[in-house]
Amino acid sequence: MTSAVVALSLVGCGGGSSTADGGNSGSSSENASKPLVWYNRQPSNSTTGELDKEALNFNKDTYYVGFDANQGAELQGQMVADYIAAHKDVIDRNGDGVIGYVLAIGDVGHNDSIARTRGARKALGTGVEKDGDIDPSPAGTNTDGSSSIVKDGKIDGLDFTIRELASQEMKNSAGATWDAATAGNAIGTWSASFGDQIDVIVSNNDGMGMSMFTAWAKENKVPTFGYDANSDAVAAIAEGYGGTISQHADVQAYLTLRVLRNALDGVDVNTGIATADEAGNVLEEGVDYEYNEEDRSFYALNLAVTAENYTDFMDATKVYEPISKEVNSETKKVWLNIYNASDNFLSSTYQPLLEKYDDLLKLDVEYIGGDGQTESNITNRLGNPSQYDAFAINMVKTDNATSYTSLLK
Ligand code: BGC
Repeated sequence: MTSAVVALSLVGCGGGSSTADGGNSGSSSENASKPLVWYNRQPSNSTTGELDKEALNFNKDTYYVGFDANQGAELQGQMVADYIAAHKDVIDRNGDGVIGYVLAIGDVGHNDSIARTRGARKALGTGVEKDGDIDPSPAGTNTDGSSSIVKDGKIDGLDFTIRELASQEMKNSAGATWDAATAGNAIGTWSASFGDQIDVIVSNNDGMGMSMFTAWAKENKVPTFGYDANSDAVAAIAEGYGGTISQHADVQAYLTLRVLRNALDGVDVNTGIATADEAGNVLEEGVDYEYNEEDRSFYALNLAVTAENYTDFMDATKVYEPISKEVNSETKKVWLNIYNASDNFLSSTYQPLLEKYDDLLKLDVEYIGGDGQTESNITNRLGNPSQYDAFAINMVKTDNATSYTSLLK
């Protein structure tokens, strides 16, 4: 009994109680067995999408937390198609019988971005099959409908032709993806040459969507659809933003820290997740999230946010009621990074939520913001992993898990 208690306290002692000087209890092998959660960017091959099982199984307390990319992508596509059908009398701005849309692509190597591009093209009938699935490549400019990457589509029950007029990856010259400023410039270029043909804007996220909305679409009354349900985007629905998808960031932020908390407490991973913890925190599997054991992955489920329900989503950083109670555990130290400190979703929605949940879960989290371009900008700031009890990692590129795990070995 006594020895078990000693062993347990040793495992946790990399945290607040460790001294700054030598007496470093955290040997490198000890770091390799500390709880680790990947979040928002699932370790995977950015070309094929194949999961990096080695990274996902780095140790017995390793998990991924994200959301169901395909379910959310289908929902986004459906939301756009439903909007067009519901506004069929006014949607075709120049009356040419073609509903033209432009598409902002976040990152051609990111599975969420790929899924959303496919989801939009599927719902609008504009996807072209390639290797058994819809081609998610940027189409460039296609105002005449001659592209081989997309085709002219139809929505059931409507006479219009649907055309993807243009799409492009929004990457800036320094290499940052999902880049809102680049999207704002793109809509400037597109609208200057074929603005009267643009009836709808679709974006892989709200950061880029809002940039296009404020730069052009709002004034021209062109509905713009994004993803993430950032507070500014939800508020813009009152001003003509078409809609967005909530990826249940509240559930994801909680799960990100909760799996670490559970591992640090040595309790079942489902505590406070599928089964209530002592404080009464619990989620509903199949409604709030899904778990895939083989992929070691928790996926939050998405919800559509439109003119009909947006007032329920005005504060994107609100703690979710079923998981809002403080736990009674010993404080532990967590190192957590955000791949790009200026990513709209991660900095304006996810991090504020993490900061609320870290209090409720008694975790002392050190937040590291990256530049969105290089892994080393972040890993350089994990100089002494022995100071921390657990790690939460958001890679710049989904291929780069070993840049982090090599520091823990
Ligand atoms: C979000 C994007 C964000 C990206 C960063 C996605 O899941 O929807 O808004 O930029 O993650 O990795």
